[in-house]
Amino acid sequence: MTQMYISSRERFITFEGIDGCGKSTQARSLIERLNNNDIATCFVREPGGTPVSEEIRTVLLENRDERMCNRTEALLMTGSRAQLTKDVIIPALEKGEWVIADRYTDSTIAYQGGGRGLNIEWLLQLNDFATYGTIPDLTIIVDIDPEEAKRRTNESPPDRIESAGIGFQEKIRKQYKELIKLFPDRCMSIDGSSSSDVISSSVWDEIKNRKFIYEK
Ligand code: ADP
Ligand code: TYD
Repeated sequence: MTQMYISSRERFITFEGIDGCGKSTQARSLIERLNNNDIATCFVREPGGTPVSEEIRTVLLENRDERMCNRTEALLMTGSRAQLTKDVIIPALEKGEWVIADRYTDSTIAYQGGGRGLNIEWLLQLNDFATYGTIPDLTIIVDIDPEEAKRRTNESPPDRIESAGIGFQEKIRKQYKELIKLFPDRCMSIDGSSSSDVISSSVWDEIKNRKFIYEK
């Protein structure tokens, strides 16, 4: 018989990493495992997730002639996040659901901080403001070589941010590594070059080890 698990309480788990690292696959897989154990989940992905946030997403990702300045990019990312946090994430957590997010605050530190070079202290404060102080219980950073990630996503045309190229993705990867040093209790890295099944088993083990779930 397969072992069943019970949730100790609601949790907020975020998946992070460079473009094409495999985090959406992992978010889906975790949700499936939780739902198989009758644990209610709410999935969100950024930028987007509410009507206002989806409109902001379009502005952010469309390729256009006008060059979007870095501060606008940071403000729009966090603007989208504020709406999503207030209207979806906080209510779901209040209902006792697990919120599984494909990107959250750390993307802003990695992309707008590490990638675009904006001041990290400013961005940390902006995140705090945008999230009403909502901090994930666990952040899984799927770490992978940008060349490998690019090979995996080669079919789809790059959006505005992906168009920035491999050097940009290298800077983002480096900033994610810094985030693990900055928030060692919350953030952990997982090897994204392993198979999806191996990664999703390690994620599940981590959740068990942290006592977010226990055996029925
Ligand atoms: P992201 O959300 O980080 O952009 P996805 O989960 O959408 O990444 O994965 C990008 C592509 O790589 C998809 O085609 C997916 O099927 C594939 N993929 C995801 N995880 C792995 C893995 N561990 N090994 C090989 N291919 C993967
Ligand atoms: P998306 O198509 O959702 O990419 P992915 O599947 O890699 O998550 O596009 C989101 C893009 O926005 C992605 O390139 C990362 C970027 N981004 C930021 O630059 N800052 C942020 O705060 C967030 C949430 C995303």
